[in-house]
Amino acid sequence: MAKISRQGTNDFCPQTLFLYGTYKEDGTPDFGLFCWFSYCWDKTLGAMVCIGGEKLTKDRIKAGHVFSANLVTEKMLPMADYLGIKSGYDADKMNFQADIGKGEVLNVPVLMESPVNFELEVAQNMVLDGGEVFLCRIKNVLYNEELADESSSVVERLKKIAPVSTTCETYFSYTGEALGAWGEPAKEFLKG
Ligand SMILES: Cc1cc2nc3c(=O)[nH]c(=O)nc-3n(C[C@H](O)[C@H](O)[C@H](O)COP(=O)(O)O)c2cc1C
Repeated sequence: MAKISRQGTNDFCPQTLFLYGTYKEDGTPDFGLFCWFSYCWDKTLGAMVCIGGEKLTKDRIKAGHVFSANLVTEKMLPMADYLGIKSGYDADKMNFQADIGKGEVLNVPVLMESPVNFELEVAQNMVLDGGEVFLCRIKNVLYNEELADESSSVVERLKKIAPVSTTCETYFSYTGEALGAWGEPAKEFLKG
């Protein structure tokens, strides 16, 4: 197969999506949508994330050193897309109904609708040119009970929660169908 060269792109490399939850200065929760999330090893499994530019999530992580990462499923996509296009610096961003709980170990807001919630504590940060990398300790992971049901296969359990992936500025269902371009599912959410 012939190859072509392209600069600085991750097109055709699907990524999993997470909503990062932090508490604002006034103690109310903020959530933002992120895909630059992966794992690392430092005696135990850790998480590594990159945040580009200035955003409220970054400010709040730097202020409190803790946040949650909530796996995005197909059911959550309209809300998640909205949380990815609306800035936390807009005071009305979080003016909607959502079932928001608290971490079991860390003081972080978690989205109860998400089947997997990481509770993360920053261990190290690296300031880059316009971005910042955070290496995090996974202090706890909250799983929906159904994910621990070993009478159901991993395939069935994954299919049931249906995590969304993204590449080429497009969202994809767990089974690979396109679910819209970035910014599209939010329109449904904003209609109410
Ligand atoms: C699909 C998608 C993925 C995103 N992933 C990231 C990411 O990994 N890193 C980042 O810095 N911003 C990312 N963003 C942008 C943030 O979600 C966006 O700036 C959001 O408004 C941040 O919310 P906040 O201001 O409440 O922190 C992504 C946006 C979308 C739509």
